[in-house]
Amino acid sequence: MDLSHRLQGRTIVVTGAGSGIGRGTALRLAREGAYVAALDVVPDGLEGLADEVGPTRSGGQVVTGPVDISSEESVKAAIASVTDARGGLDAVVNAAAVHYGDHTHEMSLERWNRLLSINLTGTFLMTRETIPALLESQHGGVIVNFSSTSAYFAHPYMAAYSATKGAIMSFTHAIALEYADRGLRAVSVVPGGIETAITGSTPANLPADVDWDKFAKLMPVLGRGKFGTPDSIAGVVAMLVSDDGAYITGTEIRVDGGTHM
Ligand SMILES: NC(=O)c1ccc[n+]([C@@H]2O[C@H](COP(=O)([O-])OP(=O)(O)OC[C@H]3O[C@@H](n4cnc5c(N)ncnc54)[C@H](O)[C@@H]3O)[C@@H](O)[C@H]2O)c1
Repeated sequence: MDLSHRLQGRTIVVTGAGSGIGRGTALRLAREGAYVAALDVVPDGLEGLADEVGPTRSGGQVVTGPVDISSEESVKAAIASVTDARGGLDAVVNAAAVHYGDHTHEMSLERWNRLLSINLTGTFLMTRETIPALLESQHGGVIVNFSSTSAYFAHPYMAAYSATKGAIMSFTHAIALEYADRGLRAVSVVPGGIETAITGSTPANLPADVDWDKFAKLMPVLGRGKFGTPDSIAGVVAMLVSDDGAYITGTEIRVDGGTHM
């Protein structure tokens, strides 16, 4: 199927676009014709992204820029810069997040607050700042937020991270109802284990005395038990922000290679 024009003419913001799922999603959306504003707090991963899209027949492209989603000022500036340049916005993909693992009884308040301020408050700030422009979208605005299977199923040492991901799911449900009559859709994507910087750094981010047996139930059955790729999520996000997702709102899509059945 030729999807190279599915998102032609749409403007989409993607956070966390410097790495992993956000990066793969920015590329995929541009290859389907979207103008993608690819934002991240770490500039290194954004380098080369615009060129990596390659020539598109539908005019899709990536422009990159900075944002710290935990900073109100930074989010306001980043979104204003996109909407000023493009005259509107059709979708936002809130992929940026951080991940730490701790014994909960040892977790500092500073680490707890940092997780919440990026994962949850960051998703709120991005959502709040984009809603006015999304409500004006001629295609019907779309918000795609990132939850995690850790919101549904126990993930060891990840109580705080899981709490942010569960909260994002609830937040997204409420927005979907609040704005449905104005044509806005809001959906969460719920990845299982995907090979990215987050999963790569997980062992180093876990307590030194980690019990690996506790991870036994967290492996996929597809792909011979290997974690998925960012592309396996990017294609789902592309569907959600396109007209193919027009009847999907207020819910979540789990993409976990059959980890949890
Ligand atoms: N990889 C997985 O197995 C997995 C599983 C479930 C959910 N998720 C979720 O998918 C999303 C993408 O994760 P990933 O695996 O691609 O991770 P990743 O670490 O590869 O990418 C996350 C990106 O977010 C950016 N970021 C962090 N803090 C930021 C901030 N304050 N402002 C702006 N950008 C910031 C990082 O610089 C990084 O580029 C996250 O929301 C994550 O929680 C991932």
